[in-house]
Amino acid sequence: MSVHYQYINAEQGTKTTIPDSLERLVKRHGTPLLIFDADVVRQQYCALINALPEVTPHYAVKALPFSPALKILHGEGASFDIASSGEISMAERLGISAKQCIHTHPVKKTEEVEKALAWGCRQFVFDNSHELTKLAHYKNSVKLLLRISFPNPYARVNLSYKFGCTVEEALPLMEQAKALGLNVNGLSFHVGSQITDPERYVSAIKTCKKIWEQAKTLKLAPLEILDIGGGFPVDYTAPVAGINDFCAQIRAALHSFPQAQFISEPGRFLVASAMHSISTVVGIAQREGRPWYYLDEGLYGCFSGQLFDKAEYPLAIPAKRLLQPKEPSVLAGPTCDSIDIIRDGIELPQLREGDLIIAGGMGAYSWAHATEFNHIPRTQIVVINDIEPLPSTGTEY
Ligand SMILES: Cc1ncc(COP(=O)(O)O)c(C=O)c1O
Repeated sequence: MSVHYQYINAEQGTKTTIPDSLERLVKRHGTPLLIFDADVVRQQYCALINALPEVTPHYAVKALPFSPALKILHGEGASFDIASSGEISMAERLGISAKQCIHTHPVKKTEEVEKALAWGCRQFVFDNSHELTKLAHYKNSVKLLLRISFPNPYARVNLSYKFGCTVEEALPLMEQAKALGLNVNGLSFHVGSQITDPERYVSAIKTCKKIWEQAKTLKLAPLEILDIGGGFPVDYTAPVAGINDFCAQIRAALHSFPQAQFISEPGRFLVASAMHSISTVVGIAQREGRPWYYLDEGLYGCFSGQLFDKAEYPLAIPAKRLLQPKEPSVLAGPTCDSIDIIRDGIELPQLREGDLIIAGGMGAYSWAHATEFNHIPRTQIVVINDIEPLPSTGTEY
């Protein structure tokens, strides 16, 4: 852990780190730069497996569609949650077996379904009647998880707003699927991203148990899979519960569930803490009595997570600057747009041109939706602590 940089907005107790190799890597590659630590991904995967030993994680590729991340997780034995043709192509290129993947987008173009089937992926998700009529054309090839919505206005990202049927719609949809000759082999849900209250999973699991038992009694569907989605939390500027404690109630709820194959779709938990962004102060201006520090990374780049993911990243600055008094300041990004402001009013000591600014927790929903606005290319990622992956042992569908 580097002693030259110190976080300025992370609460005590957060497990924030800074890679030792940071200055050496900046000398070699310049900035802006992202440093991706393969060891952290392996540790997170291992921690999740230990916390939920009966649940097979399917890495949600959308969080960070970066080949080394997929390769590392594949080597660890992970399966994958893919949700677009682009993600399919990526998995295919990397030699990941389609049989270890589920296609989780509840609303798909027919081309998308055909591409997934041609690749060999058979497990899909649906949540509405119209999608069933589309999928009926492939009834001999597809297996379906029914996604149920559990709205959570307190989640950082409420993933039951746009997708998921209501609890009341579940049995009629299974009935319709059966009438169309479709095989609904499980239930799925996503209680929202960066969840801090595990009770959200517990109540979703209990509701799914009722639906599951009713469906079995009515012989509506040969249910065998319960997919508990993603949402597992990580530290940003505030500490969250350790994953083992967080999952204690989930483990207990799954023990009371009927015999089933349990799977999950973690994105953030596996990759968020594995990546740091390094940017440089490239310009300084005084505007209305406040210093503005312009960085070579911004909201159109990796800080896009502030907009799309509502993230607040822990920021570190050179420790030696912290000897000076702080004043309200602005950290701005490199594009010509005024929205491109990372923090307005942040208390900072005087920074100098060339100072490095480090942001932690940048692995998930950051680089993934960074743009090339102003023709500024997406930031380069360097991988540290990589090793050759082992042959995969993931679940097959
Ligand atoms: C269907 C689905 N599965 C999994 C995930 C990953 O969620 P998280 O990153 O919170 O683990 C998402 C996130 O958008 C999602 O939409």
